[in-house]
Amino acid sequence: MKKLLIVGNWKMAPNTAKEAVKIWKPIQKTAHNLKHVETVICPPAVYLAHLGTLVTDRNCVLGAQDVSADTDVPHTGEISAPMVFDARARYAIIGHSERRARGETDETVAAKLRTILSYPLSPIVCVGESVRDDSGAWVRELKKQVKTIVSGLTEVQLARVVIAYEPIWAIGSKAKRSATPSECRDAVGVIRQIVADILKSDTVAQSMTALYGGSVNPENAIEFLQDGGIQGFLVGRASLDAKAFVQILKVAETKAKKS
Ligand code: PGA
Repeated sequence: MKKLLIVGNWKMAPNTAKEAVKIWKPIQKTAHNLKHVETVICPPAVYLAHLGTLVTDRNCVLGAQDVSADTDVPHTGEISAPMVFDARARYAIIGHSERRARGETDETVAAKLRTILSYPLSPIVCVGESVRDDSGAWVRELKKQVKTIVSGLTEVQLARVVIAYEPIWAIGSKAKRSATPSECRDAVGVIRQIVADILKSDTVAQSMTALYGGSVNPENAIEFLQDGGIQGFLVGRASLDAKAFVQILKVAETKAKKS
């Protein structure tokens, strides 16, 4: 069975490399001993190279929070896929809603995905609707995102893609609530169906790793793993709290052991 994938997105924190190491160490210590969970920490890019020297095994690895669609062009302030790979990152998040809010489009995310796939990096592609109501508009919004981003990819390429379902309304401290496991399962079903339609085959669509992100914490993690149709999490706030994140890792390990 595939391992569960638990990803921590530290966003624009902490403020010093010293604090970054302090959060990383206890997480790595726990992650190192888990047989059924792969842990990925996505720190701010300035900490990647240093934390990269602390990586000891595949159980706890690093990811970038974003990469440029371009390589080898002059782009002030941007970071490229080969750079993050050289800093020992093995994953890269793209399309996070906080970047989309600053103008990133599905087309840009599609270009970034193709770049990442030409390096030995695993892409974590964030998708998710802005509003969830009974109108069904959320399904159209989600379908459009996924179609634009993954259309044209081959089965081999899509098998490497991790999809993170991140409903925008459920993310961050302003969110009123997380999604429910059944809302998550429905959305992940929509995503898998689009992939199946594109590939005209169900195999990769069903086996792709899907994550849930949006107000995940040690208390709600188990419900999502049981009923959310997902194989892991993309965790924001709780990943900066080493204790809380370690608890999420343990919940995932226990759940995976039982199934
Ligand atoms: P949150 O963030 O866990 O703080 O809601 C999730 C995310 O932005 O990926």
